[in-house]
Amino acid sequence: MTKTNFPKGFLWGASTASHQVEGGTETDWDRWERAHASKSYRTTKLLLGRLKNWPEIRDQAQIPETYIAGRGVDHYNRYAEDFKIVTQLHMNTFRFSIEWARIEPRAGEWDMAEIEHYRTYLTTLRAQGTEAFVSLWHFTSPTWFMDRGGFAKQANVALFTRYVEKIAEELGDLLTFVNPMNEPNTYVLMSYLAGLWPPQRHNLFTAVRVYKNLIAAHAAAYRVLKSHTPHIQVGTVTALNVDKLASRSVAARFTQWVWQRVAKYWFLDNVRATSDFVGVNFYMTNYYPWYGGVSTPKQPKNDLGWYMEPGAIDKLLVEVYDRYKQPVYITENGVADNHDQYRQWWIEQTIIAMRGALDQGVDLRGYLHWSLLDNFEWAFGWLAEFGLVHVDRATMQRTIRPSAQWFGDEIARLRAEETSAKSQK
Ligand code: BGC
Repeated sequence: MTKTNFPKGFLWGASTASHQVEGGTETDWDRWERAHASKSYRTTKLLLGRLKNWPEIRDQAQIPETYIAGRGVDHYNRYAEDFKIVTQLHMNTFRFSIEWARIEPRAGEWDMAEIEHYRTYLTTLRAQGTEAFVSLWHFTSPTWFMDRGGFAKQANVALFTRYVEKIAEELGDLLTFVNPMNEPNTYVLMSYLAGLWPPQRHNLFTAVRVYKNLIAAHAAAYRVLKSHTPHIQVGTVTALNVDKLASRSVAARFTQWVWQRVAKYWFLDNVRATSDFVGVNFYMTNYYPWYGGVSTPKQPKNDLGWYMEPGAIDKLLVEVYDRYKQPVYITENGVADNHDQYRQWWIEQTIIAMRGALDQGVDLRGYLHWSLLDNFEWAFGWLAEFGLVHVDRATMQRTIRPSAQWFGDEIARLRAEETSAKSQK
């Protein structure tokens, strides 16, 4: 086993996203959830109905409220309490997103009280010595933006850039790490190809257009942020999973090739000149081809049916670093695990894999676990629990899971090791 220490100043933390935890958002997702909740069970059953844990979640899956973010986990009001947990777990970093619809509820109208809210939020976080990693868009948009065509219209890129500029002006002094957009590749896939997320399109041409406009939006956001606030590190955050072949067939290899080129790296290949770092969100291994029941690898699956091979992140990190030669942060990584059965094992394996990647020269600078809190898992609503901290939504009480206690101690140990390695020099 490798002995490489984590580098000095390594970021250890957890990630969240506004719509999934804050509560009380008013976005395109909120509108869609209200209109769609009673139809969600059918899709959920289709996608999760054959999993081992289905009997356990079936009843909850039939209730429309399951698919409504609503009060979230009230992080909007309880953030100070949540930040204390971050410190308690010995983390030095927290990732969250700013909700565009709060800042600009109507086109061109800024809500100064909401800007003030995020200012206090960031100040509170910084006052306890925690670094902030901030997304400016995490899948949700103001309804007025979507009514004008969202990212499917090239002219709308300027609307996003105007919002980014406002953030730079108002909050730039408090920001260090910014990713303008979270997982543009997942957004295109889920919202414009698979049609499982709003605005539920299945159109290849629109999907390509959206992808291109997201690339343009990232580049424009980068320029705006850099010109207003040159000290900010601006990078990408994309879903980068591990691809494996379940068969050597031509079909399998072709699917894998297309996936790698388009879904995985197209965005990154096009924004490398406007990125200071690469953010990796890793959750699963994809086996090709998926169709026709061909792939049944003997790997355990999480509560959403995703193959769990946490150690595979080692090769992925090397692949990403070799391709872009930029600092790499793991910006999301975690497991849907309602019983906290796998989480500790997952993190342990990931730590071993990260050391492996460091050994091979990868400039890895941080690990942010998804997620700090149980949260609203998009189309699966409240069915899947990703939190290091369990949240009872009736009382909003937070309970640190055993895996998180373990992880907190492990972070303390690793950070001390880092410090002692430094003082030995
Ligand atoms: C997203 C999160 C999501 C997580 C688990 C990532 O794709 O950024 O919002 O909850 O995966 O599905």
